[in-house]
Amino acid sequence: MVTRKSNREIELMRVAGRIVALAHKAVSEAIRPGITTKELNDLVEKVIRDNDAIPSFLNYSGYPASACISINEEVVHGIPSPSRVLKEGDIVSVDIGALYHGYHGDSAWTYACGEISQAARGLMEGTKASLFAGLAKAKAGNRLSDISHEIQKTAEGLGYSVVREFVGHGVGKWLHEDPQIPNYGLPGRGLLLKSGMTLAIEPMINMGAKEVKVLSDGWTTVTRDGSMSAHYEHTILITEDGYEILTTI
Ligand code: MF3
Ligand code: CO
Repeated sequence: MVTRKSNREIELMRVAGRIVALAHKAVSEAIRPGITTKELNDLVEKVIRDNDAIPSFLNYSGYPASACISINEEVVHGIPSPSRVLKEGDIVSVDIGALYHGYHGDSAWTYACGEISQAARGLMEGTKASLFAGLAKAKAGNRLSDISHEIQKTAEGLGYSVVREFVGHGVGKWLHEDPQIPNYGLPGRGLLLKSGMTLAIEPMINMGAKEVKVLSDGWTTVTRDGSMSAHYEHTILITEDGYEILTTI
């Protein structure tokens, strides 16, 4: 069931989203060659808890950390570890969720560690552009797959590929609510968007082929061909004339 949130719920989701954004800001300021993914995870968790919220991902389906941190060919769900040390040239996707007074915010961003290659920069910019191209279709009266199609068109137009196995989703009282939001598809299909819907839009885009596999830890997902992957996600509110980003400061 797809819900439309009340003004009170939306206000709580703005706060949850702001806390997620504050955690991302802390990550952006701390990330550097030599830092471990565990240190970044602990920083995320501290910002969330210091703001009276709870990490959404911790223990979700048994997930063992507060953030997902995925490096280079890792697509999503990288588990933070004290033995994963970032190095110059890495691209690092950090996915963060916070639960505030019963409501979730969810947002991912890919960061550069030090100087990165032109190719890596292109993938990051292209994935971000895909997210915002999709968001440009997020508006009451449009259909859900208008967002999906625009993301795919943008990413593939730049020569990249769209991961199929993971999708965006409704978000609110639960981290994952209906509907599922693929990052590919034909336009004009699916759910009619209405004001008050809250959605997490999250393209995962590969430099090479679209295929992925899950490693033996049961979580870490990597590209099958070893090419780099990027991931950008915002939680948004659908409004009559467009959208409002909730995961922002
Ligand atoms: N943003 C991701 C999602 O919506 C993060 C979930 S990670 C998990 O699925 F650990 F919570 F599963
Ligand atoms: Co999400």
